[in-house]
Amino acid sequence: TVFAVAQGLPKLAQKATYKVGFAQTESNNPWRLAQTKSMQDEAKRLGYQLVYTDAAGSAAKQVSDVDSMIAQKVDMIFLAPREEKPLAAAVKKARAAGIPVILLDRNVDQKLAKAGTDYVTFIGSDFVKEGQRVGQWLVKATKGKANIIQLEGTTGSSPANDRRTGFESAIKGQPGMKIIASQTGDFARDKGRQVMETLLQAHPEVNVVYAHNDEMAIGAIAALEAAGRKPGKDVMVLSIDGGREAVQLVIDGKINYVVECNPKFGPKAFETLKNYAAGKAVPVKIINPDREYTAQNAKALLATAY
Ligand code: AHR
Repeated sequence: TVFAVAQGLPKLAQKATYKVGFAQTESNNPWRLAQTKSMQDEAKRLGYQLVYTDAAGSAAKQVSDVDSMIAQKVDMIFLAPREEKPLAAAVKKARAAGIPVILLDRNVDQKLAKAGTDYVTFIGSDFVKEGQRVGQWLVKATKGKANIIQLEGTTGSSPANDRRTGFESAIKGQPGMKIIASQTGDFARDKGRQVMETLLQAHPEVNVVYAHNDEMAIGAIAALEAAGRKPGKDVMVLSIDGGREAVQLVIDGKINYVVECNPKFGPKAFETLKNYAAGKAVPVKIINPDREYTAQNAKALLATAY
């Protein structure tokens, strides 16, 4: 583990209460709503003031949201960067203004801003590993034979980049596994449905859909059913997140495999803030453990899904 101690990072004083910013990416899916609620609940429990912004799916708005938090002189900024490149400059701006930043769930481009130097740490899932786990499961389940449609997340975001990289590395070397189409569905249900509708017409030979999140998988299921296909049976559906609706679809046999990506960041985020203020060494990466949901365990785990 690499630790971040004072490489020019702004310090945070130990206080009874803090005014903390949380710059959210968008609020168009249950994962984002669960993440926001977890942050709000924990801030409330601790008696901290939370300055919350919603970038509504715009990296440019998120940059100006961070600017406004700097102007409001918050003590620390929690940032879930929508895209890797545009938000790197915002991180550096906060640092120059003497405000430490913790990245939540998504990362910025490591060539443009560095953990332990420009921001304190990244807290979140290992997205490459998530994609790899889906790919490895699929190799086993299909014995290395599949015509795959990949529904990618938001273009330029770290989960889309990494989940694609991880999945593609896991199926590389399997000559019988082909990604016949790969297109963004922007992590959104309706976009996932629309993209799947179009791709399905062009590629009726598809027998696997790998969606970078539950929302797009649920959209793809609607498109498959509308076209008379049987999701989970003649077309396997795989996704990442593990919200309750998707876990129920695993139980129903319409989704075959889900890797969890847990959105409940609140307790860990604020504990890290306190550790940082206390001058404790904070690792530059704090990786959340992810479970998986299959036909075998989904029923037992349903109640614990977000
Ligand atoms: O960054 C995490 C991803 O972003 C989640 O998989 C997705 O649902 C969210 O919008």
